Amino acid sequence: METILVTGGAGFVGSSLALLLKADNPSARVVSLDNLKRRGSELNLPRLKAAGVEFLHGDIRVPADLDAVGPFDLMLECSAEPSALAGFDGSPDYLLATNLTGTMHCLEACRRHKAALVFLSTSRVYPWQPIRDLRFVETATRFELAPGQNVAGVSPAGLSESFALSGPRTLYGATKLASELLITEYADMYGLQAVVNRCAVLAGPWQMGKVDQGFMVLWAANHLFNRKLAYLGFGGLGKQVRDVLHVRDLYDLLRLQLANLSAHSGKVYNVGGGPDLSLSLLELTALAQEATGQEIPMGSSAETRSGDIPWYVTDTSAVQAATGWSPRTGKARLVGEIVDWLRENAATLKRIL
Ligand SMILES: NC(=O)c1ccc[n+]([C@@H]2O[C@H](COP(=O)([O-])OP(=O)(O)OC[C@H]3O[C@@H](n4cnc5c(N)ncnc54)[C@H](O)[C@@H]3O)[C@@H](O)[C@H]2O)c1
Repeated sequence: METILVTGGAGFVGSSLALLLKADNPSARVVSLDNLKRRGSELNLPRLKAAGVEFLHGDIRVPADLDAVGPFDLMLECSAEPSALAGFDGSPDYLLATNLTGTMHCLEACRRHKAALVFLSTSRVYPWQPIRDLRFVETATRFELAPGQNVAGVSPAGLSESFALSGPRTLYGATKLASELLITEYADMYGLQAVVNRCAVLAGPWQMGKVDQGFMVLWAANHLFNRKLAYLGFGGLGKQVRDVLHVRDLYDLLRLQLANLSAHSGKVYNVGGGPDLSLSLLELTALAQEATGQEIPMGSSAETRSGDIPWYVTDTSAVQAATGWSPRTGKARLVGEIVDWLRENAATLKRIL
């Protein structure tokens, strides 16, 4: 690949992948295109520059901004309004224009340049009500799937690609699923080579965590900077569960997919940490306390937000069987790396996070 375009390339995932790709492919032209909408993405610009990644201030809502890149061979589509809460408290205009119309512009750019596409989709494509309707048992620190459920796509390994897709999933999830459908049609009609990774929670240093997106960093930062946090929803106990994946482990998968793109093209994979890398908020609090040496006031609100889910753990069987990939970074190490990064950049990050 001579030229690789990373849209959202100053964001958490985009900048991380762009830097790792450039390090592995020093002779490639790696371009990060980003409109810097996400607060803190600007902090990645010096890192990109130092590594030889080209930065282009651009917006995927504007086709001319994508044209300005020139020809490219591969696009990693990492730009988004990435919050599942987007649109709840006002207009969904930006969400739809970026996550849906923007995808269309990205697909058109790929078609024109005969470029391949890796699309960062989300576990949020799965509707929330059927997930809430699963049966859970409550242990001392978390909700766990009750045994013996006869629901397609659900097993002790987590939630697989065969989980039903009908029902509301948040507008964020809907824009991602709609984008996936467009990708399928571009593959069929124009021969676009594309891989879709439906990612669960991704985390790591340089994520600008906030209340509605990036909870691992939010938790670690609020512990380190001695601020408050609260357990929201599902009884306010902090027992809701997610699996988490270090962005570096996502890059390992990307390398395997790119090394054999024709085999993975047209595939949709659930990607995440899986059961071994799952944790509840209560368990995350314990890890954050350990890594920072701080205990902070913890509030609680029993009321569950619309669209929220008590549990999501990725069944990674399909992607593991197809690529041989598995994540390498444990939960404590992930939190430790985030805390180290927060400590090293505390003065700047306190203003942003
Ligand atoms: N972080 C996660 O836990 C997670 C999980 C599942 C899927 N994803 C997906 O991964 C991708 C990257 O997410 P992230 O966590 O890095 O988010 P992020 O907010 O850190 O990065 C997104 C970047 O896109 C940029 N952007 C927003 N609108 C744009 C536009 N119209 N034109 C150009 N750039 C624009 C932002 O400025 C930001 O730098 C997204 O597609 C997200 O939906 C992330």
